[in-house]
Parts: sequence; C-alpha cells; structure tokens
Amino acid sequence: MSEKKLPLGHGQMLELAHELPTPFYLYDEKAIIENARNFNKLFSWAPGFCNYFAVKACPNPTIMAALAKEGFGADCSSLPELILSEASGMTGQKIMFTSNDTPAEEFKAAYDMGAIINLDDITHIGTMEQILGTVPDTICFRYNPGPNRTGNAIIGNPVEAKYGVTEDQVVECYKIMKEKGVKHFGLHTMVASNELDGSYIVETARMLYNLVVRIKEEAGVRIEFIDMGGGIGIPYRPEQEAMDLQMVSDQMKALYDEIIVGSGLDPLKIVFECGRVMTGPYGYLVSKVLHVTEKYKEYVGLDASMANLMRPALYGAYHHITVLGKEKQEADHTYDVTGSLCENNDKFAIDRKLPEIKKDDVLVIHDAGAHGHSMGFNYNAKLRSAEYLLRQDGSVVMIRRAQTYDDYVSTLRFDGAPVEV
Ligand SMILES: Cc1ncc(COP(=O)(O)O)c(C=O)c1O
Repeated sequence: MSEKKLPLGHGQMLELAHELPTPFYLYDEKAIIENARNFNKLFSWAPGFCNYFAVKACPNPTIMAALAKEGFGADCSSLPELILSEASGMTGQKIMFTSNDTPAEEFKAAYDMGAIINLDDITHIGTMEQILGTVPDTICFRYNPGPNRTGNAIIGNPVEAKYGVTEDQVVECYKIMKEKGVKHFGLHTMVASNELDGSYIVETARMLYNLVVRIKEEAGVRIEFIDMGGGIGIPYRPEQEAMDLQMVSDQMKALYDEIIVGSGLDPLKIVFECGRVMTGPYGYLVSKVLHVTEKYKEYVGLDASMANLMRPALYGAYHHITVLGKEKQEADHTYDVTGSLCENNDKFAIDRKLPEIKKDDVLVIHDAGAHGHSMGFNYNAKLRSAEYLLRQDGSVVMIRRAQTYDDYVSTLRFDGAPVEV
C-alpha cells in the first residue's frame, strides 16, 4: 500500500517523538499556507472570493492568524469561536456567524462585532430582532434544499437535517428582511461533508445560482453573496483521489456565466466555509505504543485515545497510520489499534494491516489537522494533548500546551461549601 507523506523525514519525526511528551499534534505551516494560496488562486475568477475558515476544524489562533494573512475569514458557530477569530485578526465582515439553536448572547456578540449573521431558521428573524432591538444591515440565510438534494454519511440527508430554512420558507425569509430594512443579503447552504466528488460541489453552485435568480424574481431581493459552506473532502485513504478542484472551479465559472451573468445578476460574491480541506491533511497525531498484546485478536495499545481523535470511533472514519522507521517493512500483521478509554470503540483502526509493531514504536496518525484536536474531550479524565507547529523555517513551536490536572479540575469545588446561585 502506498504511504502518506510526513512533514519531516522519519528520523526527525522520531527525534521529535522522543523529545516531546506524547501524544501530541503536529501541524505543517508551510503546507497549510501553500494550500490556502492555491485555493485562493483556483477561485480568483470569482468576485470577492473568500474562504471563511470553519473555526471548529482547528480552533488554534496561531493557525487562524496564518490563514487570516492569506485573506481568509472565519466561520463561527459559538461565542468562544467568535472571540478566537477576532483575536486571530479576523474581524467585522470577515466573520460569518453560522450558528444553529443560537443563544441570545451569541446573536448579540456577533452583531456587536459586525460579523455577518447567517440565520438558520425563519423563527430566528423575530428572536434576533427582539434581542438586538434592530436588524443588521447585512443578513444571510442558511438554505436546506430538503428532498431536492441527497446528503452523505456524515452530514445526513437534508430532509433529516436540523439545519436551515426550507424550500417553502426561503423566499419569504428574504421578503420579510427586505421589509424590515435590511440592505445586503447573502445565501448559504451546507449539504455535504467530506465529499470527494467535485460534481456535488458544482451542483450546489448551480442550486444556489438558480435560487439567487428565483429570490430576485419572487422577492425582489438582490443576493450579493453566496456561501457554499464547507464539505470538500480529503483523501483519508492512500488510494483515494483528492477532489478535482480545478474542475470544480472551471464548472462553477461556466455556470456562473450562464446563470448569473445571463440573468444580469453579476457581480455575485462567492465564498466558502471550508475547514477540513484547509488543515486536515497537514495535521498529525503522534503517539507511542504502550502495549502489544494478543487476545482473540492482536492489539496495539497507544498512549493516545479517542479523547484525542474521535473520528474513527464516531464515524468509523479511516485514518492512515505510519509506523515510524518501518515504512518499508511489509504490512504482514493485522492489528486493532486502540486507546486506553474504558470504551470498546476506543480504536483508531480495526483489522489494520501494519508491519510488526513493538512497544515504544512511534505511530503517526495522518489527516488529523481538522476536526481532530478540536473534537477532543475529557472522558475518563483524559487530559487534552499539546499542539505543535512545524514552522516554515523548520523550527517546531508549541502552539497549545497540554492540559494539566489543575486545568482539568479548575472548575470543580472540592471543599463542599455551598455556592450561592
Ligand atoms: C456550517 C458549517 N460550515 C462549514 C463547516 C466546515 O466543513 P468542512 O470542515 O467539511 O469543510 C461545517 C462543518 O461541520 C459547518 O457545520
């Protein structure tokens, strides 16, 4: 099986793994920046193009600040994400607030920051107006096409999804906001997750372009930007092909010329909210082998667990594993690669073909740079790991320290003294 690339030679990776406490995350700054530039270049034809990086994918301000320098904005879904984005240099309309089931203080904070509010529901119009005492100058709605589109495994079928305004509601939403005096309008959707088939993204563009025309005709509202959401997948398996983004860009442009220019609605700004494809392939979870055991199956027990990376346990997701220094050895053993949680689904891989593994070997789990550390949790009182950045100059810096026991217990009361509520 072909191997995946490492950000450093395996000797240097091994040195790092022996120098730093494992498990830890390592991100490759150069690769992230090159990828961001490439994405911008691919869509440079699109008016006002911007990727609002989905903060949930990798909420680390060092990485977010690097993306901000490349012109990226931030897609946020919570108050802490809003604050982190501002702290990383993404401010005002460079922030998209795509929340759902939104608490009042989050609408308020997004409005005060001048972020673009992307409403998830028709009832949120009244709720937001009541909270703010006004309506923003700019508003966006998340559209859920329901039976008009099929979803995929992670995001689910649109008719089952909790997100967005329906086909019947969408035009009405814009009519209402126009009457309330909103001046600028956007249209958002997010109908796929981790999709590798580029035609899916092209069809989403076609759907939004057509809806822009319909909203103009039926509500008299000129949509100024469409937000394609995220959902561009990455090839987690070595034999998978990355999405053909050049094809996506070319076909989106052809449809833009046909539908948007053809309807006299040019210029229409185009933005994305991609997270996974921006940082996913450039993050690595590095872990040491604590035990190799044989029961009814052969097990490799790591010092990382699903509390560090839960995608395999949550979605049955594949993450490629490299055994450092054994890249050239035959994968002639079949292992379940496990963590130490008291949960039998705490497995990074099941029945994975790998070279023979020994205690203290170092395993690198690939494609962990998005929805990796950020999805971590503290079950079994497992402490969150540190994050490191391999800088463009070759140095390695810590960009988040590991959680300590004191951090973990910092919200608890041990003295049993009553606390007034
Ligand atoms: C509203 C929204 N936008 C963007 C994203 C980012 O998606 P991805 O990381 O697949 O690009 C997500 C992911 O869950 C999302 O919920």
